[in-house]
Amino acid sequence: MTSTKVFSGFQKHIPITGDISLKDPIAYKSTRLMAGVLNGIHVASAEAYMNGVEIPDSVFRLLLHSSMPILFKHCPGLLAPYEWVLDESDSLAESSQELMKIQYDLPQTMLNLMLGDWEVIYPKYSMGFWENGAKNLEECQMHAIDLIIERLEIADGDHILDLGCGWGCVANYIMSKFPNVRFTGLNLSHQQCEYIRRKMQDSQSYLSSGRFTLYEDDLNRVEFAEKFDKILSVGLFEHVGNLTNSFQKLASLLKSDGKAFIHIITVRIPNNMSSGFTHKYIFPHGRYWNYDAIPNHNRDLKTVDRWYVNGMNYHKTLNAWLQRFDNYQDRIKCLDYGMNYKKFRRMWRFYLLLLGTIFATCDGEYNGNGQYLMVRT
Ligand SMILES: C[S@@+](CC[C@H](N)C(=O)[O-])C[C@H]1O[C@@H](n2cnc3c(N)ncnc32)[C@H](O)[C@@H]1O
Repeated sequence: MTSTKVFSGFQKHIPITGDISLKDPIAYKSTRLMAGVLNGIHVASAEAYMNGVEIPDSVFRLLLHSSMPILFKHCPGLLAPYEWVLDESDSLAESSQELMKIQYDLPQTMLNLMLGDWEVIYPKYSMGFWENGAKNLEECQMHAIDLIIERLEIADGDHILDLGCGWGCVANYIMSKFPNVRFTGLNLSHQQCEYIRRKMQDSQSYLSSGRFTLYEDDLNRVEFAEKFDKILSVGLFEHVGNLTNSFQKLASLLKSDGKAFIHIITVRIPNNMSSGFTHKYIFPHGRYWNYDAIPNHNRDLKTVDRWYVNGMNYHKTLNAWLQRFDNYQDRIKCLDYGMNYKKFRRMWRFYLLLLGTIFATCDGEYNGNGQYLMVRT
């Protein structure tokens, strides 16, 4: 298994600072208390920004570049603002309906302009890979999918299940390269599924080749009649709160010699991480699993290889999205977000700036993306 740094496993009793193996309940409680206080300040600052308090982007970034290294290196426990961030939840994916409403079913014109929409690369809401010399957003997204093809060892003729398939970008690109690959895509977002259904009628799209099947459904309840050669999931497991039960489900959908590939945002600290602002306004119950969490959940699927993809890749991707979000204001501002547009704009700028900057702190070595190749046990 390849990994540049190995941390100890899932750790609940994390003191504010010092020896993370200390399991003293008083240290744990005081950490929880301090995490709550810090989170209160974080949410209040975000809301002040949303309500119009001006901070230049450069100052915003400077504040994060000075504070995040201290938190990552010395007080990682403070980055878990709620108890649920540390524990597995009852359901597989959490707050799914609310997540669709406040995030994935937002006006698609806005999301598509921000993410980019090209001939083969449809909107892709996940990290682009810049380390192979990509010159722009479209190319970095192609390179990100090339990496998946290589690491998941996709072969022509595979039947692949894409969990959380977005706008069908990964499937469309892979089918353009492999004439006999078949895809089944799962997505709960009605608006994104509508985009896919239009492409399934468009003769220019590989999604119309008869090799793509769409399930508009929830990971929590969906059932498939067949088993798959490969399963891939890009950017869904940030919304999954129960790895144990999810992997049981994935194992049941995989052929005995099949392979699964999970790509998620991850943190190389001992505990999982979340943010009160993103939980409240962007990704309800979203969390970043720590880099060891997936290999540590090895009852039904075991990790046979893994890769840490440096955070600078997501930093550059988010910066490109922010630039497009700003550049397309004229078309974006007249859409219906169910709230005052000025406030919405500031909320999304806060989100894109916050995440975009955190990925770049500590040279991208703490907050990046994790990729995991898994097989049935
Ligand atoms: C971050 S996006 C990534 C989309 C796509 N994989 C990509 O890379 O562009 C996460 C996707 O998961 C879908 N999703 C989130 N929760 C889901 C659930 N409970 N069941 C099915 N799909 C879900 C979202 O609608 C969205 O399409």
